[in-house]
Amino acid sequence: MNVPMYDLKREYLADREAYLSLFDEVCRSAQFADGVYAARFESAFGAYLGGMHAAAVNSGTDALILALKALGVGPGDEVIVPSATFNATPGAVALTGAVPVFADCEEDTWQISPASARGLITDKTKAVIGVHLYGGMFDVRAFRRLTREAGLFLIEDCAQALGAAFRGEPAGSFGDAACFSFYPTKNLGSFGEGGAVVSADNALIDRVQLLKKHARTPEGDHLAVSGNMRMHGLQGAILTKKLERLPDFLARKARIAACYRKAAAQSPALTVQATEPGSVHAYHLFAVLPDDRDRFTEYLTARGIAFSVQYPVPCHRQTAFAAFGGARSLPVTERLFSRVVTVPSYPYLTEEEILAVAAALREYR
Ligand SMILES: Cc1ncc(COP(=O)(O)O)c(C=O)c1O
Repeated sequence: MNVPMYDLKREYLADREAYLSLFDEVCRSAQFADGVYAARFESAFGAYLGGMHAAAVNSGTDALILALKALGVGPGDEVIVPSATFNATPGAVALTGAVPVFADCEEDTWQISPASARGLITDKTKAVIGVHLYGGMFDVRAFRRLTREAGLFLIEDCAQALGAAFRGEPAGSFGDAACFSFYPTKNLGSFGEGGAVVSADNALIDRVQLLKKHARTPEGDHLAVSGNMRMHGLQGAILTKKLERLPDFLARKARIAACYRKAAAQSPALTVQATEPGSVHAYHLFAVLPDDRDRFTEYLTARGIAFSVQYPVPCHRQTAFAAFGGARSLPVTERLFSRVVTVPSYPYLTEEEILAVAAALREYR
C-alpha cells in the first residue's frame, strides 16, 4: 500500500457538484477580488472564532506582514519569534524592515519558550510572535503576561492552529492580532492561497483592510506604501462553505491523532509532542521524534508511507537569516529539527491507510 501525505483531490471529488456550482455563482457575480464573497467569509470566520473581527487576505504570509504593519512594526524594531517555525514567520518580520530575534523552544511541547523569549527583550523590542507549532498551542498565559509586563504586542501565528483552544478559548483570541493561513493543506484549505488577520480590536482590522489594498482612501489618496494582498472572491466563497464542515474535519483529525498517539506510545524509539496543559491540539500536522531520522524515514519508505520533514533547517540557521544572529545556538530547536518527521494525518485518508500508519508507528524499533 502507498499512503500519501495528502490527496487533496479526494476532498474536492467528495463534493464536486457543490464546488462547481459555487464557481459558477462567483463567476456570474464577477466579484473576483475581495468583494462580497471575501466579506461573507470575514463575518463567518470572525463568528467561528467567538466574535472576532477578521480581514481576509491573500496568504498567511501576507496576514503576518499586514498585522505587523498595522501594529506599527517597522525599521528599528525587533520582534521575538521562535526559530522552530516555517520561514514565513521571521520572513514577514524582516519584510517590514524590522529585525527577527530568535527564541528557543520547550523540550516537551516544542513551542516557543517564555524564558528564552524573556531573555531577548531589549529597548528595541516591539512585539513577540508566538507560533502554535504543528497545531499545538504555545503557553498563551505566560506570553500574555510577559508581553503586557514589557509593553509589547503579542501576535499569534495560527497558520497551523485553526481548531486549537486553551480552556475553551480558540487559538487566535489571545494576542493583539492573530494570523491564519488557508494554504490547501491547512485545516481550512482554499483552492489556491488565502489568509486572514483577526483581532478583537476593530480599528486594527480596519487598518489591515486599508493596507491590504495599497492603503488607498476612497478619495484616491494612498496613506502608505503597501501592496495588493486581497483575498480572491472564489477563495472567500469556498472557504465559507468549507468552514461549515470544519468541526467534522477537526474531529476526524483528532481521532486519527489519538490512534497514532496510542500506537507511537508502544514504540520505544518514538517521542510525540506534549500538549500544553488545558489546551486542545488542532493536529494540522502529526509530528514524531524518532531516535534516528534517516533510519525512520527509510523504514516508512519501505512500508510505502509518505512523510515530510517540517522543517529540516531551523530559521536561525537558514541562509536568509544569516544577518540576524544565525551564529547563536538554540540547542532545543536544533535537536528538534534534526529529528522531527511528520506522517500522513489527512482526514480523507481511508481507514486502511490510517491503520497502516498506526501499525508502522507501533512496530518501529
Ligand atoms: C507557521 C506558519 N506561518 C506562516 C505560514 C505562511 O502561510 P502561507 O503559506 O499561507 O503564506 C505558514 C505556512 O505554512 C506557517 O506554517
